[in-house]
Amino acid sequence: MDCIQNVDRDIFWVGGSDRRIALFENMFPLDNGVTYNAYMIIDEKTALIDTVDNSIRRQFFDNMRASLGGRPLDYMVINHMEPDHCAHIEDICRLWPDVKLVGNAKTFQMIRQFYHMDLEGRTVEVKEGQELSLGRHTLRFYMAPMVHWPEVMFTYETSRHILFSADAFGSFGGYNGNLFCDEMDYFDQHMEEARRYYTNIVGKYGPQVLAALKKVGGQEISMICPLHGPVLRGPDMGKMIEKYTRWASYRPEKAGVLMAYASMYGNTEEVIHRLAGMLSERGIRDIRVYDVSKTHYSYIIARAFQYSHMVLASPTYNMHLYQGMDTLITDMGKLNLQGRKVAIIGNGSWSPSSHTFMQKKIEEMKNMTLLVEPMVIRSSMLPEQEAQLAAMADAIAASIKEDEPAINA
Ligand SMILES: Cc1cc2nc3c(=O)[nH]c(=O)nc-3n(C[C@H](O)[C@H](O)[C@H](O)COP(=O)(O)O)c2cc1C
Ligand SMILES: [Fe+2]
Ligand SMILES: [Fe+2]
Repeated sequence: MDCIQNVDRDIFWVGGSDRRIALFENMFPLDNGVTYNAYMIIDEKTALIDTVDNSIRRQFFDNMRASLGGRPLDYMVINHMEPDHCAHIEDICRLWPDVKLVGNAKTFQMIRQFYHMDLEGRTVEVKEGQELSLGRHTLRFYMAPMVHWPEVMFTYETSRHILFSADAFGSFGGYNGNLFCDEMDYFDQHMEEARRYYTNIVGKYGPQVLAALKKVGGQEISMICPLHGPVLRGPDMGKMIEKYTRWASYRPEKAGVLMAYASMYGNTEEVIHRLAGMLSERGIRDIRVYDVSKTHYSYIIARAFQYSHMVLASPTYNMHLYQGMDTLITDMGKLNLQGRKVAIIGNGSWSPSSHTFMQKKIEEMKNMTLLVEPMVIRSSMLPEQEAQLAAMADAIAASIKEDEPAINA
């Protein structure tokens, strides 16, 4: 049975949703699935924009057939070659043998790598700004290299001002029937997962995202059709463009503090809770505490992008960092997170060194500020360390208050 929706005149959503998936990219937990969006334009020529993941194959082909209504497929535009969007290229070429594949030079190189296909006579290779007319609709292509992968491009529909934005502006979360952000409370339903999606999946490539946004920024945009999550339009689309600009430039959304800790026997955890209470006493009203063993690092990464300040605390483990903290902090570095204010707490029973590992990793990241010297606990915090913890709380609270006006401006 098909499950298509009208996106605009002659344009249909032909994607689908997988709620059984446990891990996106076999790595990121999904508690309510994900959509794989694909779009069909029915004009003098027919054009499919991207395909979907293998998991929703049947739904996708039912949707394709329903939207085509017996007509052949003339073009398949490939904005992104990650297999969650291009699993069906070979099948489509078999079912509609005259279809032309529209992509850039890197797209076709990747098709050959993944699918070993003979592309002779099948390709329409496009370059920056080139257009393809379908009749009433014209598609214009903008290269968006590294807005996830090197071959990524955006497709802009010029008559209705619709941007097909590949992985940009995507969100985790399965299909709820409402396709458009203005048919739901988008910020309530999708914002958290849009942030977790962006920061973990595309977060490393902030400058490339900014470059791509700048390229298309000169065009009128009535709607953004991403490859995951709701279609954006109206005031929430504007707000999301603002969020993307902030995330891509690594500017925090909030003046507040993320506190992430590792702890086996509760001693490090106790110090974090004591510090969190001290911050509250100093008027800090936006504090998020996470145990790295309990919460998957992708959620904590999203908070690290969101908040201006962070406290990291970990026991020493086999002369190194506790694994969960090592994973979190290494990933922050790999994602190029920068410009945050940090405090560090280390713990160890015979030769505490976790604080030095954390400090080194933070110092390797761009434009990070260590607010105070790391605090070192030897098994459990001594009463005489209370003053040092209070001084750490003073420094964090003062710094948050100092940064608040600029962040909220
Ligand atoms: C498997 C294991 C390895 C450890 N390795 C070290 C170490 O290399 N150096 C050290 O000083 N403490 C080491 N410790 C001790 C812990 O860092 C220490 O007991 C700390 O206080 C635990 O804090 P917690 O109560 O928050 O879990 C290790 C503990 C365990 C269980
Ligand atoms: Fe992707
Ligand atoms: Fe994707």
